[in-house]
Amino acid sequence: MKKCMIALTAAISASLILSGCGDADSAAQKTDGIISGAKSAVESVADKAAEAAEAAKDGIADAAEAAKEAAGAVADKAVEVKDAVAEKVAEVKEAVADKTEEAKEAAAEAKDAAAEKAAEVKEAAAEKAEEVKAEAVDAAAAVADKAEAAVAAVAAAATAAVNAPAAGTIRMITEATFPPYEFRQGKEVVGIDVEICKAIAKALGKELKIEDVEFDSVLPSLIAGKAELAAAGITVTEDRKMQVDFSVPYVRTGIVFIFAKDKPFEKADDAKGKKIGVQNGTTSADFVRETLGQEPDMFDSPASAFAALKAGKVDAVIADIDPAKAVIKGQDGYDISDLLTVEEYAVAIKKGQPELLATINKVIEGMKDSGELDKITDEWTAKADAAAAAEEAAKPAEEAKPADAPAAAPVVAPVEK
Ligand code: ARG
Repeated sequence: MKKCMIALTAAISASLILSGCGDADSAAQKTDGIISGAKSAVESVADKAAEAAEAAKDGIADAAEAAKEAAGAVADKAVEVKDAVAEKVAEVKEAVADKTEEAKEAAAEAKDAAAEKAAEVKEAAAEKAEEVKAEAVDAAAAVADKAEAAVAAVAAAATAAVNAPAAGTIRMITEATFPPYEFRQGKEVVGIDVEICKAIAKALGKELKIEDVEFDSVLPSLIAGKAELAAAGITVTEDRKMQVDFSVPYVRTGIVFIFAKDKPFEKADDAKGKKIGVQNGTTSADFVRETLGQEPDMFDSPASAFAALKAGKVDAVIADIDPAKAVIKGQDGYDISDLLTVEEYAVAIKKGQPELLATINKVIEGMKDSGELDKITDEWTAKADAAAAAEEAAKPAEEAKPADAPAAAPVVAPVEK
């Protein structure tokens, strides 16, 4: 096409140049020549163009064929690829499925194992917790025990310091309404037990001090460290032996009924269901409970129990034979029974003092052997009787009336402690 354009342009240009010439024939000849030249040029160009077009057409068809072939190959390749991919996908899928199953199984196994492990751990933890708890409880208990022991030790030390006897003295604790063993002469506490304790004090090179308390406080006070010796006509019993240490006994004795002669009490059975007066904390009280199986009426001394008998408030009294004899001295109309029990008196000390106990025993045995014990027993029995007689004589006449007479006032004033 380009060639055609060039040929045309050349022909036209030539004719234009020639038309400017003066010689018309030659010009016309020349023009014809040019035109025919141009014509042939145009024709050859056209041929060439047609050739070129043909060639181009063939080329395009070839190209199209090649393209078609190529496209076919591409399509084949695409199918191949597609299949391969599909195959691969299927493989992968399968593999994934397998792997998933495996993983699932592994997961299930792992879950079970984990659950098992967790249960084990839980159990172990529970065991450990229990152990730790038990240990903690033990430790806490031990600490509490230690603290308690420490507090007790401090308290004991404080009590001991407060209770310690003055230097060079030893204290006897007693209950001084129990003639002839201990009773009051004026302000002074005297009697057989006082003589025994004075001899013990002397053997220890100490001065005796006397504490007078309720009878049921005698042993508790001794145990609390308020005195070193307890001597109060104290009967040795199994129960008391568990709380204190006893010396060798210094007398064999027992308990009796005190009764109005017109209402005699001779044996335990006579007292069944009757009102029986006793001193608080004594073996007489134990006897009423244990042998008679009933509650006694409690008094703070044998004398006040006897006063109740005289006032008709009790049917009989049970007391140790010696103080019983002492209280009925000069009381016509009253008597005592035979012994209901056999008992022994001893000096009591706080447990765990073998040296002190040995000294006390030596003193008592010495007094027995030398006849000193018999001597002081007779002496203080006589003095107690004399004191009772003197007291009786000093009383206004109406207080000495027999038991069935109405009692206007307490017959025996309580002993001042
Ligand atoms: N022997 C009796 C007892 O030990 C009575 C002693 C009473 N002594 C006294 N001092 N009140 O239980």
